[in-house]
Amino acid sequence: MEFHEPVMVREVLSVLRPGPLSRVVDGTLGTAGHALEFARLIGSQGILVGLDRDPAMLAIGARRLNEAKGKDGPRLHLVARPYEEICEVLQDAGMTEGVDAILLDLGVNSLQLENPERGFAFSKEGPLDGRFNTEAQATTMADLVNNASERELADWLRDYADERLARPIARRIAARRALAPLRTTTELAELVREAYPPAQRFGRIHPATRTFQALRIAVNDEMGSVERGLKACMSALAPGGVLASISFHSIEDRITKRIFQGATDAKPDPSNPYSATTTEGLEFELPFRRPIACTAEEAESNPRARSAKLRAIRRMEVTS
Ligand SMILES: C[S@@+](CC[C@H](N)C(=O)[O-])C[C@H]1O[C@@H](n2cnc3c(N)ncnc32)[C@H](O)[C@@H]1O
Repeated sequence: MEFHEPVMVREVLSVLRPGPLSRVVDGTLGTAGHALEFARLIGSQGILVGLDRDPAMLAIGARRLNEAKGKDGPRLHLVARPYEEICEVLQDAGMTEGVDAILLDLGVNSLQLENPERGFAFSKEGPLDGRFNTEAQATTMADLVNNASERELADWLRDYADERLARPIARRIAARRALAPLRTTTELAELVREAYPPAQRFGRIHPATRTFQALRIAVNDEMGSVERGLKACMSALAPGGVLASISFHSIEDRITKRIFQGATDAKPDPSNPYSATTTEGLEFELPFRRPIACTAEEAESNPRARSAKLRAIRRMEVTS
């Protein structure tokens, strides 16, 4: 596949409503599937800011946007930084009045998964890496599997991937690394496969899928990013601006739901750690309460979209 296939494009556009003059941020630019649609609708009077933590993805997204731009395209401001830093990025761009629309399309994109050099997947041999930014991040997946405690490994596998064999897999990793460190994706994948009963080792889904997902989330602190990033994005909205977030993981969706609810609660909710703490002084509303899922047609044509959940929050207009 040449580019990542964007999910729920129609739904995203109907929630964010980018139009002429809009100031739009794509906080997870990737290969610009969503951003190309934004650029088309914004026109030459608007601004499109694109961020990606992975400089290689940012470069592909930037190339596609620049090629498509023509004279009617928006002003582009594209930076290889994490969306948690959106406020600093907007400040640097002189956009201190906030923006009208922000999209976070969370997780990993298919080009990262398909490149064995990046170490996100186990289908082809590569280094056990999994970092979104190989220059800014020091710790790799190899560092985690070779140094984290058995307990920590098991917790990540259970919490980030619902891996029911979390403990046996962690035990195997610990036993194996005592002999020699694990270095490649395929070494780890085979070790995980062997933790499974023989009848379950060669099913439709490779038994190491969940382990790689969990380690990728851990190595990039993806849940920490979501928590810090959603709050930062909310404070970057202009009055009337909308933030939309697409989650593929139940923990991401839960964090999103609670942060959005916490910011719109009339009274603090003691059961929600994010209640009334999110963005002091700004008022928000939920354009819809239940997350939006993809259509049956999209689920059929793009299996990745099946687990996608779209949520949104709007900063209220100032009333006086
Ligand atoms: C699902 S892909 C986005 C795909 C994109 N919407 C498209 O249509 O091509 C997620 C992207 O988010 C990036 N990413 C992950 N964590 C990030 C973070 N904290 N800040 C910015 N980008 C991040 C990944 O590098 C990846 O390119």
